[in-house]
Amino acid sequence: MANYFAIIGAYLLGSLSFAVIVSHCMGMPDPHSYGSGNPGATNVLRSGRKSAAALTLLGDALKGWLAVWLAEHYQATWQLDNNTIAIAAVAVLIGHMWPVFFKFKGGKGVATALGVLLALSWPTALICAAVWLIMAFGFKVSSLAALIATLISPFIAWWFMPQTSWVFAVIVIDLLVLCRHKSNIKNLFSGREGKIGESK
Ligand code: G3P
Repeated sequence: MANYFAIIGAYLLGSLSFAVIVSHCMGMPDPHSYGSGNPGATNVLRSGRKSAAALTLLGDALKGWLAVWLAEHYQATWQLDNNTIAIAAVAVLIGHMWPVFFKFKGGKGVATALGVLLALSWPTALICAAVWLIMAFGFKVSSLAALIATLISPFIAWWFMPQTSWVFAVIVIDLLVLCRHKSNIKNLFSGREGKIGESK
């Protein structure tokens, strides 16, 4: 029974769309209504409010971390197996992408995936974040940096993660993140993808 609670709890945590919550609290327009329409830190940055984008990034990463950390921390108490932790990791991403509280219109999952990685294996998260930062500073394109970090993450996870099921969770999360970036990939190939902070 505790297994189901951990997974459903992770989905509900993931459903807290911080782009929408932060924008609402700061009196800003709904992020679905401008730029790429994506409720995520990159799009909130297009509003010109850096603090709102930073808070969105922090909130989305924190919920990913918390959902997995809770399952890990109470693993013995709740008698959760490692597969449940892996499913909870995927569930928080599903919540972020299809949030029950926001008409199932969620984000692309990059910040939340980073939070999940941090809880599963901090070295994996650190390397992926470093790759993202280097690519973002180099190319100034958020989606490109995210896609490169996403593509390399299973290999780093394979090296550092103690559980095979957790590596599978990373692969599933990466496939979801890649699918959510379909329009970005098209724009990248046609040279229409904007730089960080530019309006779309
Ligand atoms: O993390 C999302 C980012 O990779 C792309 O966002 O708003 O440019 O589609 P956006």
